[in-house]
This record gives sequence, structure tokens and C-alpha cells, in this order.
Amino acid sequence: MADKKLIVVIGATGNQGGSVARRFLQDSSFAVRALTRNPASPAAKALKEQGAEVVQAELEDAESLKTAFKGANLIFSVTQYWEPFFRLDCRPKATELGLSCRKYAYDVEYRQGKNIADAAAAVVDTLVENGFLVSTLSHAGKATGGKMTEVYHFDSKADIFPHYVDEKYPELSKKMSCIHTGYFMTSHQILPNSYFKKQPDGSFQMRFPTREDKPVPHIDIVADMGNFVYAVSQMPPGKAYMAAGSTVGFGEYIRLFGEHNTVPVSYKQITFDEMVNDAVEDEAAGIEVANMYVYADEPGYDGGMDLLTAEDIRKVSSIALRSDEDAILTCLLLAGVECPITTLEEWIKKQDWSAVLLK
Ligand SMILES: NC(=O)c1ccc[n+]([C@@H]2O[C@H](COP(=O)([O-])OP(=O)(O)OC[C@H]3O[C@@H](n4cnc5c(N)ncnc54)[C@H](OP(=O)(O)O)[C@@H]3O)[C@@H](O)[C@H]2O)c1
Repeated sequence: MADKKLIVVIGATGNQGGSVARRFLQDSSFAVRALTRNPASPAAKALKEQGAEVVQAELEDAESLKTAFKGANLIFSVTQYWEPFFRLDCRPKATELGLSCRKYAYDVEYRQGKNIADAAAAVVDTLVENGFLVSTLSHAGKATGGKMTEVYHFDSKADIFPHYVDEKYPELSKKMSCIHTGYFMTSHQILPNSYFKKQPDGSFQMRFPTREDKPVPHIDIVADMGNFVYAVSQMPPGKAYMAAGSTVGFGEYIRLFGEHNTVPVSYKQITFDEMVNDAVEDEAAGIEVANMYVYADEPGYDGGMDLLTAEDIRKVSSIALRSDEDAILTCLLLAGVECPITTLEEWIKKQDWSAVLLK
């Protein structure tokens, strides 16, 4: 145990953190500390059975994070905008504060991200050179020159990772890698009307305010986030990535779906208002996601940032020039780092689509 590197994983019972925890558990040179609010949950118990140390922590409680981060050599951070958004107390509290529930959830995610950064800064000395691995998204407000200030669940992440960390904690910033995540390939489960709307003629129509051929990133989050973060941990620090198995337009997504299931399909670029009315019952959620799909059209999901991809990681020798002081790392870099990732086509072929096809 003592000679193992310790990675502390936030959100370890969820999609992203769970994938990261499971990947690092496969490497016996790491010890994994999995954080959760409820160590008695089935997901937390499963992690314990797989060999993780499960520790109770609350992102609203900075002190619990400081305790949980003690001795960390690496930290994986993820925050969840949609949990406060959908919690029953969101709307009354937002009304009391004179805020929309979308802005209220921004404030919660921002505060929790800030607590993570503050607690990580307290253990910066024990972190390895590339020891602060954070899940984030691009900043819509900045990327659009202030035109789109209400893609809250993007800006709440980017305002902390990297902006707050860069400004407040230069030493931590030097040890940080920012990992943007593409659209989860499973997002059709939350937005069934937008992904696969059954038409009167029996065909399936995909409908977003994004042009059909505008490339957007897609990731099999549960299978691949861990692979991606594990690969990033072998890179030099201070870079920003897009974790995605494919970067293709939604037109290509629906084409692949139709081809695999042998059903007729189409794509329709709809307006912002059409998506708000059509996507989900909850109007506020509709506005939040419709804003994102407009942003994904222009300037783009990544806000026009130059983000490294899985392919870049595999070809790392061309971008990562390091001194020879660490021979093993240098060999790894020269060989390229493994970064297995599922393409959208592979993922579509693996799914059971019967529930979608029968609707
Ligand atoms: N859906 C998409 O297409 C997409 C694309 C890109 C980015 N995202 C972003 O992905 C994020 C969600 O990631 P995910 O899918 O991995 O989330 P998830 O599966 O819902 O997991 C959330 C994790 O965070 C933990 N957590 C939540 N609130 C906490 C708190 N107050 N204190 C301590 N732990 C807390 C939960 O742990 P316990 O419950 O065990 O305490 C759980 O492990 C969102 O912010 C979303 O914007 C989504």
C-alpha cells in the first residue's frame, strides 16, 4: 500500500468517476480512494468489493474534502449540474433568491467546484506532476464573446476548471489537466424526442438546433472515461483534452442508427423554440439543453478550443517533448500512450435498440 500511488476519485459511484475508479483499480501500482456521500449505497459497496477504499465526503463541505484528499497523489474531479437542478428544493430556493433554477444550479455547481479546487490546493505538494485531472466543458460565455451567457452547465464547470484554479492557485494549475467530455452516447435516454422521434410514416427523425453535418464529440462515458483519464495521467500536465470516441455530425449518428437497425431515418435542424417545446416536459431543462445545442452549432461544443484527442494521445511522441530525466516516462512517450476508445458506430452496434424501435 505504502509504495502505491493514491488516486482520490470524486463522483466514484457515478458514470464518470465510476469509470475512472474501475480503470485505476486495474493497475496494481495505484490505490483508489472512492468518494461518496453514502458509503452504504450499492454502488459504493461494489467499489469496496473491487478493492477501493470508500470514504464519505460532501462537495458542499470543504472540510470533508480536505480530509478525503489527505495523502493524494492524484485527484479526479467531476461535478454534477443536474443534481441540484432536479432536486425538489431547487425551484423554491431559486424563487426565494430571485433566480432561475438554471442559475441556481450554476451557483451550486460553481460552489462545489470551488470547494474541490480549494481542498486540492491544500494538498498540492503531495500531488504528482500531472496529479489534478478535472472533468470540465468549454466556456460558452467567453467563446461567444458574451453572446451566450446562459449555457449554465458549461460555464459553471469552466469558470472553475480552469479559470478559478489558474487565477487563484498557480501551483495547482501547473499540475492540472482539463478533460472535456463529449455528448454521452446514452443521452438519447434523457432526450428521446430529440434523438429518435417516431414519425407518422414509421421512420425516426433526429431533431436538434445543430446543423446535421456540424461535427460534435460523442463518448461511451461508462466504458471509456476511465481509459481516457488513465491515458491522460501519463501525459505531461497543463493540457486540455476532449474525451470522445467519435466526432461526427448528428446526421451521421442518425444515419448509423438507421443503417444498423434497417429503419428509415431523417435529420431536421429545428429552432431553439422548437427544441424547448419538444425535447422534455420541464421547460427550464428544455431551455438549458436547447441553448447547448445552439452553442454546439456555432461556435461549436468545444467553443473553438484546440483540444487534444485520443488520437493525439496515441501519437504523443510528436507533441510531448520531455527531458530524459525519467527514462520510463520518456520511453512511454516515445511509444505513444494507449488510449482505447469506442467509436459511435461500434457503440450503436452493441446496443439493444428494441425499446426505441417499438415505441
Ligand atoms: N449527459 C451528457 O451528455 C453530458 C456530457 C458532458 C458532460 N456532462 C456532465 O456530466 C456531469 C455528470 O457526470 P456523471 O454522469 O458522472 O454524474 P452521475 O453519474 O450523476 O454521478 C454523480 C456523482 O457525483 C457524486 N455527487 C453528487 N453530488 C455530490 C455531493 N454534493 N457531494 C459528494 N458527491 C456528490 C455522486 O455520489 P453519491 O451520490 O454516491 O454521493 C455521484 O458519484 C454533469 O455535470 C453534466 O453536465 C454530461
